[in-house]
Amino acid sequence: MRDFDEHNITAAVIDRFANTPDPRLKRIMASLVTHLHDFIRDVEPSFSEWESAIAFLTRTGQMCDDKRQEFILLSDTLGASMLVDAINHRLPAGATETTVLGPFFVQNAPIFQNGADITGGLAGEPLFVEARITAADGAPLPGAVVDVWQSDDDGFYDVQRTDLSAAALRGQFRADSAGKIWFRTIQPAPYPIPYDGPVGDMLRATERHPWRPAHVHFMIAAPGYETLVTHVFSAGDEYLDSDAVFGVKNSLIRDFTRQPPGKLPDGSDIATPWRHLTYDFGLKPLAQQQAA
Ligand code: BEZ
Ligand code: FE
Repeated sequence: MRDFDEHNITAAVIDRFANTPDPRLKRIMASLVTHLHDFIRDVEPSFSEWESAIAFLTRTGQMCDDKRQEFILLSDTLGASMLVDAINHRLPAGATETTVLGPFFVQNAPIFQNGADITGGLAGEPLFVEARITAADGAPLPGAVVDVWQSDDDGFYDVQRTDLSAAALRGQFRADSAGKIWFRTIQPAPYPIPYDGPVGDMLRATERHPWRPAHVHFMIAAPGYETLVTHVFSAGDEYLDSDAVFGVKNSLIRDFTRQPPGKLPDGSDIATPWRHLTYDFGLKPLAQQQAA
């Protein structure tokens, strides 16, 4: 076939994928071409706009290395990450809602005993965290492995700071016989997502801000359950309704309550005001394998 025009080219391109052996890939390519062509017909880009789009995607790729993933940040800021997350996490009652992983998770974080201080000496408003890990039906999950990570008092993760020689404000805990973990940390601060690359250019050009509301990340794994990737957000934060990556859900917001000096929940003395966060996490059982 020849003489493609703005009306018949879509069907012709889809037809070129007719021999794709993998039916899922075939469906994905057909849908991609349909939506891409519809987008182009809708926007009617000039050549210079199309060149800018290609240059933007090129810079996005060039910004990526083993520490920086600008394409994921683009997906996050376009709401695509949370859309994929929503489609893949249609949860039963009692299961905790999920949100974006983000770029600051680190494998093999330091292992701590319950009650430990994960600040690595960083200063801030003391925060005592207590969490309970259960199945969605409420049964405790002793031995669940819980990764936590968060920003510091200035809104930086340890991996963003050049002045630290060891991990800080991250760690791995194991739930006790009642499914509980607890630890000492500091109140996290809101922070801007990295905006020194093409995603930042996009945010500036569209007058969007790069801020995320203050939160603590949790990744919770237990055999027989889907690994839960989520955060708990601090109530009252000014960015809860305008999170740069669309990650906030009401069920994930808690009061990090202000407490007077005195005793922490583990019985230890504290001479300054502190904050208290409690959260009960529910994990979704893995889908049962169908019997053959
Ligand atoms: C984070 O919460 O760490 C994060 C998530 C998405 C993009 C940037 C940061
Ligand atoms: Fe974060």
